[in-house]
Amino acid sequence: MTERLAAIPSGIATAARILQDGGLVAFGTETVYGLGGDATQPAAVARIFEAKNRPRFNPLISHFPNAEAAFTQVQASPLAQKLAEKFWPGPLTLVLPRAPGSTVSDLAADGLSSLAVRVPRGEAVLALLEEVGRPVAAPSANRSGRISPSDASHVLEELSGRIDAVLDTGPCAVGLESTVLDLTNPDRPCLLRPGGVSVEELEAVCGPLARPETEADAAPLSPGRMLSHYAPSLPVRLNATSVGPQEGLLAFGPTPPTGAAVTWNLSPTGNLEEAASRLFSGLRFLDSQQPTFDLTGLAVQPIPEQGLGLAIQDRLRRAAAPRPAEPDAP
Ligand code: TXA
Ligand code: MG
Repeated sequence: MTERLAAIPSGIATAARILQDGGLVAFGTETVYGLGGDATQPAAVARIFEAKNRPRFNPLISHFPNAEAAFTQVQASPLAQKLAEKFWPGPLTLVLPRAPGSTVSDLAADGLSSLAVRVPRGEAVLALLEEVGRPVAAPSANRSGRISPSDASHVLEELSGRIDAVLDTGPCAVGLESTVLDLTNPDRPCLLRPGGVSVEELEAVCGPLARPETEADAAPLSPGRMLSHYAPSLPVRLNATSVGPQEGLLAFGPTPPTGAAVTWNLSPTGNLEEAASRLFSGLRFLDSQQPTFDLTGLAVQPIPEQGLGLAIQDRLRRAAAPRPAEPDAP
């Protein structure tokens, strides 16, 4: 059952508690309704993808009640601070290098070394974020492939029964997603998605904006862009039904093949949500065992091609793909 909560203090308090407990709450921002989950809990983030029925993972925007909170999770350049001062709260998302102590889960950032942060406008959403006290990951609150919802009844049409609650903050003022600006290269602010703050307004502060030049530039998911934070350094072998003594095994289910040097089971009970939430930590763990066991590669057991299994498979396929040379660091 999805509860419809009124945007009054008691409703906001209930919504905050659900989020802290790892549940999902949709809420209105000035742009569109977001499907929120605690960004620091991988299990909550896995549930977001499950509810949206997304066939692949993608990096999510973390939402904060103010710039100070946002800038504990990323390394804010002077330009980022200037933009925050001018446009927050408001429909601008900034992509910045993650701070060393960032508590946002790898699943929410899709393993990237950057993080998208935003402070939305709206009294109720800001009160909610303040009360949660943690970064809240929120993609638009629609099922995959559908348009973004701009009021609470749209959300319920799409997601009723799939999320815990919707905080009814009324219709969204902008109705168009936030502008996404990539500031990871301080000398070259790059517009990744046009949105609620216009290019002209941004260029008045930043100077001319770059646009993603290539498909690879635009897609934060391309292997070249995620190397620094998570991609395993070992070769990855998919759909393995047996395993060698110098392989690390990423297992799934109750009866993994024996004989691996070291094993990380994504979910001994075969639960896909649990598997998604343990995916990045598993890859990272196995990769870190290379020197100990002299590993030559990682083997991955087959994952069912259904529900979140599709997104897990997609991510693993990209981890297994041959990697382009890493672009020169600026
Ligand atoms: O207005 C909005 O931004 C709404 C409300 C709910 O805040 N949210 C939203 O989220 O539109 P979503 O997940 O539908 O879109 C997020 C966009 C995607 O295009 C994603 O690729 C990009 O932000 N993005 C997120 N993290 C990124 C990163 N680290 N690097 C590059 N792009 C990133
Ligand atoms: Mg969307």
